Amino acid sequence: MERTSEWERELVGMARTAAKEAYCPYSHYPVGAAVLAEDGTVFTGCNVENVSYGLSNCAERTAIFKAVSEGRRAFSAIAIAGGTKSPAFPCGACRQVLAEFCRPETVVLIATLRGRKIIRTTLRELLPFGFTL
Ligand code: THU
Repeated sequence: MERTSEWERELVGMARTAAKEAYCPYSHYPVGAAVLAEDGTVFTGCNVENVSYGLSNCAERTAIFKAVSEGRRAFSAIAIAGGTKSPAFPCGACRQVLAEFCRPETVVLIATLRGRKIIRTTLRELLPFGFTL
């Protein structure tokens, strides 16, 4: 797999910055995401928890929903930053939401909140056999 490029590291940086806004008083597990729309705009998001735990929203969905609600429908990459020792891989629900708006070859960058290591994968690899109608 190729080396992480400059813009990919930049997108991870934006996800890390977004994690600073996480509202996570229950899990104390901040996550940030930055999604790159095909027109070049970046939308960021963080996890937003709720006292009724199941109503919590993951960082990835916050970022995607912000972008979709601002008229974007196609994305070329998403970066996710969470965790300290091991990174926050997107949950199953978020993978299915990503599949709604991203092509299988969309780049997914997964990183911890700090440190140099970035896992570079694709939506195809994260969600084989996702639900379709
Ligand atoms: N979380 C995310 O925001 N994204 C992920 O990829 C994994 C989990 C959030 C949900 C919850 O607020 C906290 O992390 C702990 O599960």
